[in-house]
Amino acid sequence: MSQNPSLDQVTLSAAGKTVELPVQHGTLGNPCIDIARLPKETGCFTYDPGFGATASCKSAITFIDGDKGVLLYRGYPIEQLAAHSNFLEVAYLLMHGELPSKDGFAKFEDRVTHHTMMHEAFKSFIGGFRHDAHPMSMLVGMLGSMASFYHNTLDLEDPEQRRMAAIRLIAKVPTIAAACYRHSIGWPLRYPRNNLEYVERFLHMMFEVPAGPLELKPVAARALDLLFILHADHEQNASTSTVRLVGSTGANPYACVAAGVAALWGPAHGGANEAVLRMLAEIGDAKHVQSAVDRAKDKESGFRLMGFGHRVYKNFDPRATIIREMTHKVLDELGVDDPMLEVAMRLEEAALKDEYFVQRKLYPNVDFYSGIIYKALGIPTEMFTVMFAIARTAGWVSHWLEQQEDPEFRIGRPRQIYTGAAARDYPAK
Ligand code: CMC
Repeated sequence: MSQNPSLDQVTLSAAGKTVELPVQHGTLGNPCIDIARLPKETGCFTYDPGFGATASCKSAITFIDGDKGVLLYRGYPIEQLAAHSNFLEVAYLLMHGELPSKDGFAKFEDRVTHHTMMHEAFKSFIGGFRHDAHPMSMLVGMLGSMASFYHNTLDLEDPEQRRMAAIRLIAKVPTIAAACYRHSIGWPLRYPRNNLEYVERFLHMMFEVPAGPLELKPVAARALDLLFILHADHEQNASTSTVRLVGSTGANPYACVAAGVAALWGPAHGGANEAVLRMLAEIGDAKHVQSAVDRAKDKESGFRLMGFGHRVYKNFDPRATIIREMTHKVLDELGVDDPMLEVAMRLEEAALKDEYFVQRKLYPNVDFYSGIIYKALGIPTEMFTVMFAIARTAGWVSHWLEQQEDPEFRIGRPRQIYTGAAARDYPAK
């Protein structure tokens, strides 16, 4: 393939045919060769397992430069949003493209707050789960069931109804998540206290007990708000791409987000935060760190350092740097002395010095330290990925909304390289 110097088009020769392919440029990021005409003109498809070289859509929401460790939401650097914004404002930004005015934010917060309650029927639904069901399995089921509550009232052609569905999801996911947790420990479910702000309200629904008042520590709410900001969106990751793929069929947004939660659950994606804590507990002591690093390098072991490596970042994940700082602050302010932090720091140090990790550009990712904060806040390990899901709902609904307005929007339908048997006749009997 030869490239035109202005990179406006490339010339590809395939199957004895030459085709000029246009190159598309975004505001930032790598140019993309538009191969839409390729099959028609050459009879060839492209092969890209894991989509490592493929842009699946145009999006104006989030930008990542994985080599430089840059993450922007609607153009704003994640470091600035982490320092000055709050989760609900970030959710507004992702959904609408601009930061809200003071009045705009108040209206948005009011709308979200207005929709925090679950339908009472959810109570009996949740009661049907085994007490030891994983909260992510409950969350997938509960969100899927939301589709049955709002199915007939949702006109996907109406932008206002689409926005309403997005707000309902941002509002209700914390209520449902807290209910899943309380069911798993046998506590009575809590209604949302709408005099509290988004994150405090969630902590209240998680931890308030009938026997006594709950004293919420400001650092706990601030830390959780920060984690929600950092997890709110990450462009076309596996779960967001799942939401878009399901959305491309015209399915309703609750079903799309339920599918996103299912994709998030895996340990290679959002399930990594839970896996990190289990790994740190298994390592147990700083003196076992080197043997864990050695095991991670041994392909035969099937063990990877959880919380390390990223498909896009080949540099420090900027979110990991922010979380690392917050971890020390939270533990200090809450007076928590967690030996896991020492293990995590030694592990990071050992891996960053090791040729295997250096060569492959494997750095700590967002999940490496987040579990230590969740643990300090009293959030159980099984709930870690649920926390991620609450935050990522803001990103999922923003991508779904953007997709619904995309003039190039069509059903997602990848092709394959068929490796099965060639056509053959059914044997005569
Ligand atoms: N520990 C040891 N080796 C690793 C690790 C790791 N955590 N991650 C990648 N490698 C090796 C891998 O074996 C391969 O080596 P080689 O070139 O010799 O075959 C090389 O690095 C490239 O890895 P890959 O699997 O081809 O990379 P990928 O882009 O397909 O996978 C990843 C990215 C995040 C799935 C992977 O790094 C991983 O499994 N990490 C651990 C799980 C984790 O922390 N996931 C959270 C990701 S961040 C949160 C999110 O976005 O959800």
